[in-house]
Amino acid sequence: MSEQGLPKKFIYKRDYLDFILVELACFEEPMTRVLIDFLLSKYGNEFWWVIDINGDGKNDGHIAAGVDKENSVHIFTIAVKTEHQGQGYGSLLLQTLIEQSKRQKLRYIVLEVNENNLNAVKLYRSFGFYSVKILEHYYNNLDNAILMKLDI
Ligand SMILES: CC(C)(COP(=O)(O)OP(=O)(O)OC[C@H]1O[C@@H](n2cnc3c(N)ncnc32)[C@H](O)[C@@H]1OP(=O)(O)O)[C@@H](O)C(=O)NCCC(=O)NCCS
Repeated sequence: MSEQGLPKKFIYKRDYLDFILVELACFEEPMTRVLIDFLLSKYGNEFWWVIDINGDGKNDGHIAAGVDKENSVHIFTIAVKTEHQGQGYGSLLLQTLIEQSKRQKLRYIVLEVNENNLNAVKLYRSFGFYSVKILEHYYNNLDNAILMKLDI
C-alpha cells in the first residue's frame, strides 16, 4: 500500500526544516527551532508525525506531542498547509495520535487552542475534547487560549 497521505514518524534530519516551514506558514506564533529542539530532546519523537500528501517527500502537515505527568499526552502543535486544509488530514493526524495514546494506555490528552480559532476548536470538539479552562492572555498578542482535554 502506498504511504502517500498517511502519517509517518517525524525523523529529525529528514523532516526538521520542512517542519519549521509548515509552522511558519500556519501560525502567527510558530514553534521556534529552540523550542522544537527542546521538546524533541525532552520527549523524543514518539508522538510526532508528518504527512506527505503529494508524495514529493515534503511535509504537508504534522502533529507533535509528548507524554507528560500523570500519563497524559500534551499536544504541542497540529498544522496542515492551507491548500490541504478541510480535506480530513488534520483529523487523520489527530486520530493517529489518539490511537497510539490508547495503545499505550495513557489517561488523557490536553492541548491549548486560541479561543478565536473556531475551525480548530470544532475539530477538537468533534473528537470529544472538552474545555477545561480559559488561559487568559496566553499568546504574545494577548489572545486567550482554551485548555481542552480528551479522556481516553
Ligand atoms: C486546525 C487544522 C490542523 C485542521 O486540519 P484540517 O486538515 O483542515 O482538518 P480536517 O479537514 O480534518 O477537518 C476536521 C474538522 O475541522 C473543522 N474544520 C477544519 N477546517 C475547517 C474549515 N476551513 N472551515 C470549517 N471547519 C473546518 C471541521 O469541523 C472539520 O470537520 P468537518 O469537515 O466534518 O466539518 C488546520 O486547519 C490548520 O492547520 N490550521 C492552522 C494551524 C492551526 O490553527 N492549528 C491548530 C492549533 S491549536
